[in-house]
Amino acid sequence: MSKSAHKTDAAGRPISGRPRVISFLSGKGGVGKSVLSFNAATILAAAGDRKVLLVDADFTAGNLHILANRAPEHGIGHFMGGCMSLGEAVTKADDNLDFLASTWNGPAVDQADVTGSATTMNRLREQGAKYDFILVDHGSGISSAAIVMAHGSDINVLVLVPELTSISNCYGLFKTLVETNSNIDCRLLLNRAMMVEEAEYIHNKFLALTEKFLGQAPPFIGYLFDDDIYRRSIASQRPVLEIDPNSQAVQGLRDLCAKLTGDQNGPAGRIDITTQREINNHKAMADIRE
Ligand SMILES: Nc1ncnc2c1ncn2[C@@H]1O[C@H](COP(=O)(O)OP(=O)(O)OP(=O)(O)O)[C@@H](O)[C@H]1O
Ligand SMILES: [Mg+2]
Repeated sequence: MSKSAHKTDAAGRPISGRPRVISFLSGKGGVGKSVLSFNAATILAAAGDRKVLLVDADFTAGNLHILANRAPEHGIGHFMGGCMSLGEAVTKADDNLDFLASTWNGPAVDQADVTGSATTMNRLREQGAKYDFILVDHGSGISSAAIVMAHGSDINVLVLVPELTSISNCYGLFKTLVETNSNIDCRLLLNRAMMVEEAEYIHNKFLALTEKFLGQAPPFIGYLFDDDIYRRSIASQRPVLEIDPNSQAVQGLRDLCAKLTGDQNGPAGRIDITTQREINNHKAMADIRE
């Protein structure tokens, strides 16, 4: 999907009349894709005027059903295998929120099946036309299925945490995605930040790295702080919105949702950290070893 403008109405619904598909990906595992996609979906759905579908596309270790405290009978394996329609395979999680569970109790999915993954994205859009937003939580790494599904998404949120290994793997993921489609819409989300300065440092470093070696850099959609509320959310199998609607974490997630639903394509985030033009590449590159 190209970086064309995503028009939305006042409620943040895509006005094209089709669902906006937003994928959450990462090069490294354990960076927060599942908790963020789950909690972003609950916040989007709680607005009351938008229908949301959350898809668990982590084919080997999907666990959104645990976060949502559900034991679904059907899931993505049934849908991808073609033995069920989307409507038959989804589970209701809340008034405006459905989810398509992982393969934990259904047919296995072949992650190398490029054609099957492309077909799945087309069927998701066709049969999911009643949804305003479809959020897809991927497994970590760069499987063929994840790449194809990312190319079929309107927005790809690349999640990273402030660790060198995560930055390196995120670079690898972005490289693979833009090399297979230079027009793909990717946005960088830094999770588990401890300080604003840290977020700014990593943002600048990543931009310098991708601009130097790939000739383009993903816009930064923002950052979320490291917060114990996520541990409590998982332990109680409730979204953070239910645990504390006034928390800093919920505010951060609301800001993220506003960026994802708003008509904003340029660099955007909670923080107005330096734009690509303003970056002092020499400074940012100073401690990057080739
Ligand atoms: N902002 C945060 N603050 C504190 N803990 C967090 C935050 N985001 C995620 N975590 C914790 O990080 C752990 C991993 O989160 P999660 O399972 O969502 O990662 P993931 O990217 O989906 O992992 P995988 O690649 O295995 O699917 C969880 O214990 C979660 O509570
Ligand atoms: Mg996960």
